[in-house]
Amino acid sequence: MIGPLLLAVSDGSPQNLSIFDPVSPPAESIHHLSILVLAITAGILLVVESVLIYSLLRFRRRGAPGTSEPPQVYGSKPIEIAWTAAPALIVFVLTLVIARTEWEVRIDPNNLPPDLKDSQPLRVRVVGHQWWWEFHYEGYGDEKLDFTTANELHVPVSNGIYAPIKRRPVFLTLLSEDVAHSFWVPRLAGKTDLIPGRTNDMWFEAKRTGLFVGQCAEYCGTQHANMLLRVYVYPPNEFADWLANQKKNARESDDAEVRKGKEVFLSQSCINCHRVRGTPARGTFGPDLTHLMSRDTLAAGMILNDGDGKKLREWIADPQRIKPGCLMPAFGLSESDLDRIVRYLRSLE
Ligand code: CUA
Repeated sequence: MIGPLLLAVSDGSPQNLSIFDPVSPPAESIHHLSILVLAITAGILLVVESVLIYSLLRFRRRGAPGTSEPPQVYGSKPIEIAWTAAPALIVFVLTLVIARTEWEVRIDPNNLPPDLKDSQPLRVRVVGHQWWWEFHYEGYGDEKLDFTTANELHVPVSNGIYAPIKRRPVFLTLLSEDVAHSFWVPRLAGKTDLIPGRTNDMWFEAKRTGLFVGQCAEYCGTQHANMLLRVYVYPPNEFADWLANQKKNARESDDAEVRKGKEVFLSQSCINCHRVRGTPARGTFGPDLTHLMSRDTLAAGMILNDGDGKKLREWIADPQRIKPGCLMPAFGLSESDLDRIVRYLRSLE
């Protein structure tokens, strides 16, 4: 019960994880369900505690002098029947309303309901890794997309202020590369697991712009708690700008220092795991770095990707110090090589 209570803290900050402040239809359905369940359980608490207090007061008796206990009362058929039937009925009702909500929040991405037929859906394949998120953008409306980014999901807002009014739902296909993870951004939708060898899907439709934070919600190893998640919701024109930049290959710099940095980067084992589109770096094991500096955070939301590159340098110098157990090793780079690589990476906007 502690978990939901903590999540209920709603202060309006970007770190707001409250399920009671939904901005997307699946989260709204879950919000309604939570209120109903809360009301029913509050009712049960009230009835049970009232009966308890009443019987404590009404039936308190002392034993006869010299005995330790008063006469005991055993059994009551009507009460036995009542306390079996009433919970069974409550569980039955809860099962029905939960099943209804389950049905409500599910949408088959390949067979959209009539009210979404004329929408402009964004389709993203999400792959869970220990301990980061891979986002592969596959399509937006009729446009085919084919680029990959990490940890920060960018989506368009879907509401009527931004004419022409076309709904912009987001459909996620969820896969895992290693163990089970769970995608959870409480204000957008419920949790959905990413399970190895299985494909799950979920959807949401952000009705408000802004940053919505989330978290891997299935224990997946030592750094599970640091598998954070960010969803940025933009007005459609700003989303189009973001998209246009992401579709491009990595920026080629004219700066001699940056080019030198690129050489160092490409000569190291970085390229076995990381991809920088448009260069020989084609690794897919770690996050795609093509537009690294367009991301606000590093290490799956653990540290801010600050403008001066200090954190980035610390991260590359020794990832194990910041995120023990993560799959990125320290390479024992010289100080000057570190500087060069950071200079190159900072040019990847
Ligand atoms: Cu991934 Cu917990």
